[in-house]
Amino acid sequence: MAQIDAINYQEILDLDSCTPPAALRERSVPDLGTEPFSVDRYTDQDFFDRSIERMWLKTWQMACREEEIPNVGDYINYDIVGKSLIIVRSAPGEFKALHNSCLHRGRKLVTEPGHAASFRCPFHGFTWKRDGSFLRNPVAWDFPHCKPSEFGLPEAKLARWGGFIFVNFDQDAAPLEQYLDPIPRHFARWNLENKYIAVHVKKAAKCNWSITLEAFLEPYHSTATHPQIIPFMADANAQFDVYSPHVTRHIGARGFQSPQVAREYTQQEIAEALIGPGSRIYSVLGGNVDTRLPDGVSARSYTATLLRKLLAEETGIDHSEVSDTELFDDLMYIVFPNFCVFGGFGKNFVFRFLPRGKKHDESTMEVYFLKTVPKGQDRPSAAKMNEVPDDQPWGSAAELGNLGPVLDQDWDNLPQTQEGLEASETGVVNYGHYLDLPIRRHQLTLDAYMRGDMPG
Ligand code: FES
Ligand SMILES: [Fe+2]
Repeated sequence: MAQIDAINYQEILDLDSCTPPAALRERSVPDLGTEPFSVDRYTDQDFFDRSIERMWLKTWQMACREEEIPNVGDYINYDIVGKSLIIVRSAPGEFKALHNSCLHRGRKLVTEPGHAASFRCPFHGFTWKRDGSFLRNPVAWDFPHCKPSEFGLPEAKLARWGGFIFVNFDQDAAPLEQYLDPIPRHFARWNLENKYIAVHVKKAAKCNWSITLEAFLEPYHSTATHPQIIPFMADANAQFDVYSPHVTRHIGARGFQSPQVAREYTQQEIAEALIGPGSRIYSVLGGNVDTRLPDGVSARSYTATLLRKLLAEETGIDHSEVSDTELFDDLMYIVFPNFCVFGGFGKNFVFRFLPRGKKHDESTMEVYFLKTVPKGQDRPSAAKMNEVPDDQPWGSAAELGNLGPVLDQDWDNLPQTQEGLEASETGVVNYGHYLDLPIRRHQLTLDAYMRGDMPG
């Protein structure tokens, strides 16, 4: 498969000042072909409606993180494609995913996160224990036909990995561990269990959920969409891997310029773009950055030295053996249908993409920053979700730092892509052979679910 004539990620790893983990050397690059795909997957309400039964109710989805419900009795609601679950910490170390629909006449039991000893329906007062078993019926004399022992709330499947709680509406679903493979193995060293949500921001987009997701599955749009990152982002020479129908990976290295522009940037220019004012690392370091490179030191290894020191101070954990790539590159693992999680130590972003209700042309994206719990300290509380109003930009969420304006650049493309697809004369989209591998895999998997062929 052809690839751009520029330094590639594996060659960048060869230059690392520490040894990168074996997981980052593990390649898997199947040839998924070059066929075009029909636009109806993005534009057709009927296609979306069919995808509810065929795909959304059969796949593992990240519902929340454990630290969002830290105490027994804490719960959060997970609403997706017209379904609703209560994710509750029902006992120490025990979690349940209960269907959020009263078994009497159907009222939703909860509508927002909270804490409860039991779930009492606000309509007539039927009540369930927090493990879902039936507790009380105020007019039990009229319901001899509803036996308390058989009147528990139905449950969805629930499983946990890395501090995340996943749910699946399909009782016959394969185990989560198998679905996520090789993520648990690749992430063992990065220990996401020991992280907490430091930032959580959500915003809606006027386009299909796959359009929003796919805007983040490749970095070669940066040259046209995010010109400010050209000097330090290896974009068209990013690395892509496909591990299974459900798991792909995209790695973008920082500290190397885009190969899509003719101009050659000096190491000093790269350093200023990578860690100078306006950069993410500049804000992470609190603006306390000397951007002048010492003689003979690359922008990449200089940045790695700064971040090793910062992370050691922040967490009380020695990072001196951590490779450069684990400190600042985009090590993005993508889990079908809608979850992205970044590996490494310095930047554990998480993205979740959801359809808005049952609308084929509206979606939301959530951005989480996970941070390491400092050594010897209690786990900080999870940041509350900040939902950016439709008429406000991502940039209004100050906690996102310089990522906010970058997301706003992506947002300029989204409704225009929806409208352009609806106006398409050919009725198809054409993905790149290599650069769009995760997107092609995503759509091949969606098609397999739509046909009823569960991908293995
Ligand atoms: S609908 Fe819930 S108690 Fe009646
Ligand atoms: Fe982008």
